[in-house]
Amino acid sequence: MKNVTILDHPLIQHKISILRNKATGTNEFRSLIEEIAMLMGYEALRDLPLEDQEVETPMETCMTPMLAGKKLAVVPILRAGLGMVNGILALVPSAKVGHIGLYRDEKTHEPHEYYCKLPTPIELRTIVVTDPMLATGGSAVEAVHFIKKHGGRSIKFMSIIAAPEGLKRLHEAHPDIQIYTGHVDRCLNEDAYICPGLGDAGDRIFGTR
Ligand code: PRP
Ligand code: URA
Repeated sequence: MKNVTILDHPLIQHKISILRNKATGTNEFRSLIEEIAMLMGYEALRDLPLEDQEVETPMETCMTPMLAGKKLAVVPILRAGLGMVNGILALVPSAKVGHIGLYRDEKTHEPHEYYCKLPTPIELRTIVVTDPMLATGGSAVEAVHFIKKHGGRSIKFMSIIAAPEGLKRLHEAHPDIQIYTGHVDRCLNEDAYICPGLGDAGDRIFGTR
């Protein structure tokens, strides 16, 4: 699929396998989510624009590349997407952070919006939407729709695990955005959970049930 990238670096695969283990506790789970986000961000941001700027080294003045223009916006989908934010901020500390609050209805699995705030101006920024789980794709489609409605244009969606159904739905709804995932799992179960997956990402990050 055009604009869909599977980031299957061995370090990412290894860390995802530890995430999947139900014996992995909250503290380690949280650290791994952040580390994976940083590794994924390193690859996903390789097209950030650069511009030469003048810098004085101890030896002489030179022109040297720095990140150009308006910096990044990281937009986590609450709650679980929050766990990935610090991993991206470790790479681009000047990034602004927006929030999109969505929860899935347990019966219909449709997303419901409860909070949205984006950094302004959003139009000129590269926007990285984070959510560890792309399941039915409903939350991701809604989040990207909201960002576009507010003027966002250059959008990257980053998930750690995706179901084939969610990947297809997001790509078909928003073929212009770049989608990155660490692994495409087998399927969704009848409760729209990813199998084998890692369970409920929000609960495992925040220690809730
Ligand atoms: C989870 C997950 C995604 C969404 C994915 O969030 O973090 O946002 O489900 O499912 P979808 O692709 O079928 O929309 P959840 O709604 O459980 O909220 P939480 O992060 O607050 O626990
Ligand atoms: N949300 C999760 O946290 N996990 C899933 O498997 C599906 C949706």
